[in-house]
Amino acid sequence: MDLEETLIRRMTRLAIEHGAVNLSQGFTDEAPVYDMVWGGVAAMLGGTEERLARIESMTVRDLPAARGAGGGAALDLTLKELLAGVRNPRDQFNQYSFPFGLPELRRAIADYTDRLYGRRPDPEEEITVVLGASEGMAAAFCALFEPGDGVVVMQPCHELYPSQAAIFGLVPAFVTLRENRGAGTWRLDRDEVRAVASDPSVKAFIVNTPQNPTGKVLNREELSFIAELCRTRDLLAITDEIYEHITFDGHRHLFLPSFDGMAERTLVVNSISKTGRATGWRIGWVLTPPRYTRRLRAVHDNLVVQAPTPLQKGAVALLRQERTFFDGIAGDYRRKRDLLVAGLRAVGFTVTPPEGAYYLFADYRTVPALAEMPPVDAAMHLVKQVGVATVPGDNFYTTGDDGNRYLRFAFCRSSETLEAAVERLRAGL
Ligand SMILES: Cc1ncc(COP(=O)(O)O)c(C=O)c1O
Repeated sequence: MDLEETLIRRMTRLAIEHGAVNLSQGFTDEAPVYDMVWGGVAAMLGGTEERLARIESMTVRDLPAARGAGGGAALDLTLKELLAGVRNPRDQFNQYSFPFGLPELRRAIADYTDRLYGRRPDPEEEITVVLGASEGMAAAFCALFEPGDGVVVMQPCHELYPSQAAIFGLVPAFVTLRENRGAGTWRLDRDEVRAVASDPSVKAFIVNTPQNPTGKVLNREELSFIAELCRTRDLLAITDEIYEHITFDGHRHLFLPSFDGMAERTLVVNSISKTGRATGWRIGWVLTPPRYTRRLRAVHDNLVVQAPTPLQKGAVALLRQERTFFDGIAGDYRRKRDLLVAGLRAVGFTVTPPEGAYYLFADYRTVPALAEMPPVDAAMHLVKQVGVATVPGDNFYTTGDDGNRYLRFAFCRSSETLEAAVERLRAGL
């Protein structure tokens, strides 16, 4: 099999090599959610439920080093020495745990889903904790399909769908979203979808909304159309929802299992990567209709055993945040989107502002210095000469040449980083 390092990750390597501002890969340079981090750290140190409960209310005064010294002795200790006093010699939380996810995390996922979408998946029968959406998608591909089965994929798309399909011998059937500048959105051609899905080998529809890289948020009509197609053609839907909280300008993420007849044929793949600003933690989950759960869990267990135990404890703290926290996520990204849209337009890019997620898929053919270049050359010019790393648009397409005019910029960086990128683009283009 001819698999290579993904281009997105190669661009990050080039960004480091050339000292470029890295707007290529979709991860932030801002701190993860503190309650979540603390949940993980407390689990690593606390080791047992009993000690964890104590740690939550412990003060420096309670530490052995502070006893008998009125707290004063603790003031000169390093944080490492201080926290050593919290450590539990007994441990359960840095060890193997239940392969399908800590019961506590599966309950938190059930409650979270219920609070957001009014449907509570059964933690025992319908929820499996995995190593991020990436493993969730792979486990689903491996568990539910046979080599030669077709899966409908909307392109441009994240490269993981076609790459993982290739690993498991599945055949992606591509439909192409087309930019409609007048309407300020990307359009799904229903006739194209029907034609592609009419192939008898097609077994599933891969949905990603909000979408990477276009930022498209599928609306009620579009999802109803997909749902109807899945019902009439007896297809499964696998929906990647990792940008569910990042929607702008009145667009809203809708939950596919809530559509008529879809609860029993939809797998939802999600993770804390984007919501918790913790792409390196590798904690995700898959919601499966009960009849698919056993197969998915068998693949997960045999391949990776489980997601990291202490980080699952942190994920519980994230998913138990108040609704206002989740509702507040998009506002910050909207400001960043607007900053980068303005910066790109100022140097000649043509940009349809995304409805969601945190990428700009920008047409560079209107930028004089880049106009004649193929996307890889344009991206290389930007990373080496201008000092900004992006991803060439054709990386998100497998068929056709629609990608040959786009570069993808990630705006999930601090405002200072984005301002530095805009300044380099202004100076270099
Ligand atoms: C659409 C999409 N799905 C999945 C992933 C990977 O997610 P995870 O970190 O949860 O594996 C990404 C990462 O950028 C993505 O954009």
